[in-house]
Order: sequence, then C-alpha cells, then structure tokens
Amino acid sequence: MAMKINNRDRWRVYKKVSVMFFLAAVALTVVQRGTINMGAPFELQRSTDNSSPRTWDVTSSNCSANLNLTSQDWFQSLEDNFKQFMLYRHCRYFPMLLNHPKSCTGEIYLLMVVKSVATQHDRREVIRKTWGKEQVVDGKRIKTLFLLGKPSNQAERANHQKLVEYEDYIYGDILQWDFLDSFFNLTLKETHFLKWFHTYCPSVRYVFKGDDDVFVSVENIFEFLDSSNHEKNLFVGDVIFKAKPIRRKENKYYIPQALYNKTLYPPYAGGGGFLMDGTLARRLHWVADNLELYPIDDVFLGMCLEVLQVTPVKHNAFKTFGLVKNKNSKLNREPCFFKSMIVVHKLLPSDLMHMWNLVNSDLVCAQKVEILYLQEMMKVRAMSQRVPVYLP
Ligand SMILES: *[C@@H]1O[C@H](CO)[C@@H](O)[C@H](O)[C@H]1NC(C)=O
Ligand SMILES: *[C@@H]1O[C@H](CO)[C@@H](O)[C@H](O)[C@H]1NC(C)=O
Ligand SMILES: *[C@@H]1O[C@H](CO)[C@@H](O)[C@H](O)[C@H]1NC(C)=O
Ligand SMILES: *[C@@H]1O[C@H](CO)[C@@H](O)[C@H](O)[C@H]1NC(C)=O
Repeated sequence: MAMKINNRDRWRVYKKVSVMFFLAAVALTVVQRGTINMGAPFELQRSTDNSSPRTWDVTSSNCSANLNLTSQDWFQSLEDNFKQFMLYRHCRYFPMLLNHPKSCTGEIYLLMVVKSVATQHDRREVIRKTWGKEQVVDGKRIKTLFLLGKPSNQAERANHQKLVEYEDYIYGDILQWDFLDSFFNLTLKETHFLKWFHTYCPSVRYVFKGDDDVFVSVENIFEFLDSSNHEKNLFVGDVIFKAKPIRRKENKYYIPQALYNKTLYPPYAGGGGFLMDGTLARRLHWVADNLELYPIDDVFLGMCLEVLQVTPVKHNAFKTFGLVKNKNSKLNREPCFFKSMIVVHKLLPSDLMHMWNLVNSDLVCAQKVEILYLQEMMKVRAMSQRVPVYLP
C-alpha cells in the first residue's frame, strides 16, 4: 500500500524539524557564549575554528633579496625605492618583536588599530587619552592597539627600540613586527595585521583601522553601527572610485608602468581611517595572503576587496584626504564640524587634544550635520557641504 502523506502530516514534520533546528541553534549559541566568556585562567581551544593557528607561526626573518630581477631591463630602469620594494616583495611574513596574544580575549565589539612608528610616541600618548581610550560603551568593549615595524634608520633603531619596549611594558598595547617601517612597507603592516587578527581575534565584531594623526569620533562610529542595518561585508570609509595610478615621478604615490599597467585602480578607501566587520577582515586575510604585494597599502586592500567582489562604501563622515582644499579654511578649526565626523585627517597631537576637549565639552552646535546615516548618503552627496556653526 502506497503511503499517502497529506498536508497536515507534512506540516507536522515541518514543525518538528523547525523546532529541532531552533533548539540546535540555541544550544550552539549557548556553547559558543560559554567558551567566549571563559576568559583566563582556562583558555579553551575553540573547536569551531578549524585551521587557524593560535600563535604567530613565523620565527625567522631570513629572507634574502631576489637577485634574479637585477638582470632584467625593466628592473634596472626603476627608481631606487621601487628596486628595494621589488627585491623583497616575495618576503611575505616576519616574526613579531612585541606581541599580545590575549588582546582579543573576552568579547570585543570594536577593535581600533592604529598604524604608528617608533618615533611617534607623542601621537600614541594623545590617542590613548582621547579616542583610543579603553572603555565600555553600552556594554560594548572597545580596545586599541598600535601597529609598528622597526625604525627605518640605524640611529633611531638604537635609541627608540628600548623606549618602545618600555612604553609597551606600561601600556601593553603595541604590536611590533620585524620589518622596516617605510612607506612601501605599509602594505606589510596591512597583511601582518590581517594575519594577526585572523590568528588571535576570532570573535571581534568590528575593526577600525587608521593613522596615528587623525581625529576619530567613537560616539559617531557607534551611532553609525547602530543606525545602519548593514548586511555582512561592511567596509566603509573615504572611498575613491576610478582613481588613476599616478605617473608623475615627483608625486609620493607615483607608480611606474612596470608595477601596474592598468588605467584605473579598483575602488579603495583612504588608509587614514576605515571601518569593517570582523568577518570580512578574516576573509581579507585569505585574499591578502595570496595576492602579490602592492606598494600602496590602501590600493592593495582595494585589490583584495575586488577579489572578494566587495565594493567599499563611501561615507561623507570619513575625511581622510584632507578636509577642504583650502588649508586656511575655518572649517579646519570648526569643532561642530568635527563633532559630526567619524574620521578627520590630519592633526598634530596638540591640535587633536584641543579639538577633542572642545568637541567633548558642552559644545552647542546650531545643527548636527546629517551625514551619519548611510541611507542619507546619496542626499548628502548631492547637497553642497553644509557648514555647521559653532556657538561659543
Ligand atoms: C639564513 O639563510 C642563510 C642562507 O640562505 C642560511 O645559511 C642560514 O642558515 C639561515 N639562517 C637561519 C636562522 O635560518
Ligand atoms: C630565482 O631564480 C631561481 C632559479 O630560476 C629560482 O629557483 C628562485 O626561486 C628565484 N628566486 C626568487 C626569490 O624568486
Ligand atoms: C621592508 O622591510 C624589509 C624587512 O625589514 C626590508 O628588507 C625591505 O627593504 C623593506 N622594504 C622597503 C621598500 O622599505
Ligand atoms: C600588464 O601587466 C601584466 C602583468 O604584469 C602583463 O601580463 C601584461 O602583459 C601587461 N600588459 C601590457 C599591455 O603591458
């Protein structure tokens, strides 16, 4: 006799399966929570996380120059700094000089990582006192770490390394790798951070990555994250679309044809400050790991995003390419303007401290510039920049 399943039976089965799924999901969540909250002294290996090692697995910096290149014509025609870059381009990872494997234990909502160099001690000091302060906002924990290489000149290496080590002894917030801090090596800083993050931070929700000479409003980052119901693959910043590689040799961002021969770059966010979700950062590690290094770090990250087919989103509260064209403009000193921003490039430490105090005082602004919401982005872009008014 053939079994006949009527609609009611089907509905029952469906209900049963649904309930089972629901219970399984709850159980899984509880188990995961359990392991996350188990901080020291017991450190459980998270079994859900398969292949990633729990330690920095690079212990030797033994990487010699690729002298194969020197016989080639196009290589000989390169400027010295590009020669240097090409010779060591295949050296992908270096050991860590200062590491804090436990930085991400516990639940961190927002990890802020700041590109810095040994000599810029005063910038780090101000950041620790202002936007980089460790704090918990509405139960969400924020943590700040600084990303350093080795000082690029001999004298600085001798004098500053001990100071950096002492600074780290006091604050415990410096990650340092065994490569020279140079402009072209910023891409190494990017790939090393992504690898580090992938290794040690399986549960961080969001990452802000930026320079050590920017103003950041954590409050506005939170407001942005709360307000926008962004899907996954959040990557937002001061994005440029259709940028052309610069071919003028005098320019800091000059790139010879031999290194990049396409006419346009993929969309990328200015490295001064951008925001992404932790899951995307972990996926970016896999891509960055396999892509050939490119000497401009923010363009390199744009190339990685392109591989993942993620388009970075432009948001007007990120000002990493300078505020207004006119350096003397009053806007550069306008606290109400800063109050409505997420990142502003670039400030001296004393100016950052001053602006931070102004913005966090009982500042009354005539209007809050409505640029914080992604939904309104298009509207804002169409409007000419509204100028906020500072009422002293
Ligand atoms: C570094 O490389 C050189 C030559 O390639 C080799 O002789 C030496 O043993 C290596 N040192 C380490 C520590 O791996
Ligand atoms: C240089 O060339 C040799 C021989 O072709 C090759 O084995 C080696 O891997 C090359 N070195 C690099 C760094 O690409
Ligand atoms: C990057 O750092 C490595 C390791 O210190 C060094 O050998 C290389 O010359 C640096 N590259 C540039 C372009 O400065
Ligand atoms: C551009 O560069 C790629 C990779 O380096 C190379 O394969 C290609 O032939 C180049 N195209 C032109 C037009 O030079």
